[in-house]
Amino acid sequence: MLSYVIEGNNKIEGEIKASGSKNAALPIIATAILNPEPVTFYNIPNIEDTRITLKILKLLGCKIEIDSGKITISSKEMTSKTIPKDLMHKLRSTVVLAGAILGRFKEATFSYPGGCNIGKRPIDLHLKAFKDLGAQIEEKGDYIHCRAKKELQGAKIKLDFPSVGATENIILASIYCKGVTHILNAAKEPEIQDLAKCLNKMGARVYGAGTSRITICGVKKLHKTDYKIMTDRIEAGTLLCAAAITNGKIKIENTNPEHLLNVLYKLKEMGCEITITNNSITLKAPKVLKAVNIETTPYPGFPTDLQPIIGAVLTKAQGKSIIKENIFENRFKYALDLKKMGADINFNDEENSIEIIGENFLRGKVVSSADLRGGAALVLAGLYAKGTTIVENAEYILRGYENLEEKLKKLGAKIKIEKVV
Ligand code: EPZ
Repeated sequence: MLSYVIEGNNKIEGEIKASGSKNAALPIIATAILNPEPVTFYNIPNIEDTRITLKILKLLGCKIEIDSGKITISSKEMTSKTIPKDLMHKLRSTVVLAGAILGRFKEATFSYPGGCNIGKRPIDLHLKAFKDLGAQIEEKGDYIHCRAKKELQGAKIKLDFPSVGATENIILASIYCKGVTHILNAAKEPEIQDLAKCLNKMGARVYGAGTSRITICGVKKLHKTDYKIMTDRIEAGTLLCAAAITNGKIKIENTNPEHLLNVLYKLKEMGCEITITNNSITLKAPKVLKAVNIETTPYPGFPTDLQPIIGAVLTKAQGKSIIKENIFENRFKYALDLKKMGADINFNDEENSIEIIGENFLRGKVVSSADLRGGAALVLAGLYAKGTTIVENAEYILRGYENLEEKLKKLGAKIKIEKVV
């Protein structure tokens, strides 16, 4: 098991570049399955989730060349249409590989995905959409078999919830559909816009990404392409919060502030000084942070992925903050560990919310990551706490943050990663 060991009470100060976006990289890597011509992607983060996804593509018969953040993939010789269940279970986003396989081969076999245990995370919206496109679905043992009777047919698909993964999966599965597909109540996240931009560069016809109505006109083929993916806005938000909790100052380059507007408003409301250019964000923390209320909602609202992170910061704010989580049922586990460090937090399970009474000094303790973003929240609490904090199960954090300890060290943190037997 790996742990972060953090000496607290050090300011986070300096300039840093965020890495490529995990949540854009995963569906964009899936486009290589759709496109039999060679594709090259730039700015792909070297994290566990992308390594597992590339391993699956290799298993499916893709040829892959990796040269740090530059990945070249050719799926011409791809034969298998089945995603092995042991790899499928490792992360949630493998489900979008199914949409790409179905889109290219008109059939796909996969199992229920894994990923962080932050909620039930069913895939009913994905499967219903595949049926709307004309696929027959049969569950046998651990596997789900999707197969188009003849062709996949464009359809009007209304999502009950603006699911990010389901929106991505419908786009991937419908690229070669006969006719036109409309997605109503589509998710509007920037990662979906990045996916559409990448596919359209390959010759696809995806319109309206970033709005709640996306239209995909089927095409016959895609062509050789190279594409640089967007910066990770959740990593950028995490680093901003690291400066906010340690009374520091940070400039994040290569980041589009448009992707974090709601987060920047909240940090400003907490008393942080924020200045932006079209591709950078600078934050200067106040001596005393103010309490605020947070409600997570689909983009462009406050992102659920930064809910645990801002929760850690609010343990330091003056006054009472309420955080309401509206996307996932089980995303407050980190708060139990913050309480262990001395935070004053009350849970309201009925409301799926927590109340944080701020200004409690946190003391360094041994705590444990239960999921990716909850683990990152504990790292930030360790940066602020008095004494040494050990964050166990650091593997969760390594899934989604590239070289986090290097970046934090460069910004003044005393942090290292240790193997604990
Ligand atoms: C994506 O997950 C992100 N993951 C998540 O980031 C992010 O929190 C989430 O979108 C919401 O923004 C990736 O992009 C790899 P959803 P996804 O489908 O697609 C329910 C991180 O930390 N739902 O928008 O799985 C679901 O249970 C991760 O980087 C159904 O009920 O999220 C959840 O309550 C965590 N049926 C809600 O919708 C379905 O078929 C939102 O899920 C699909 C989803």
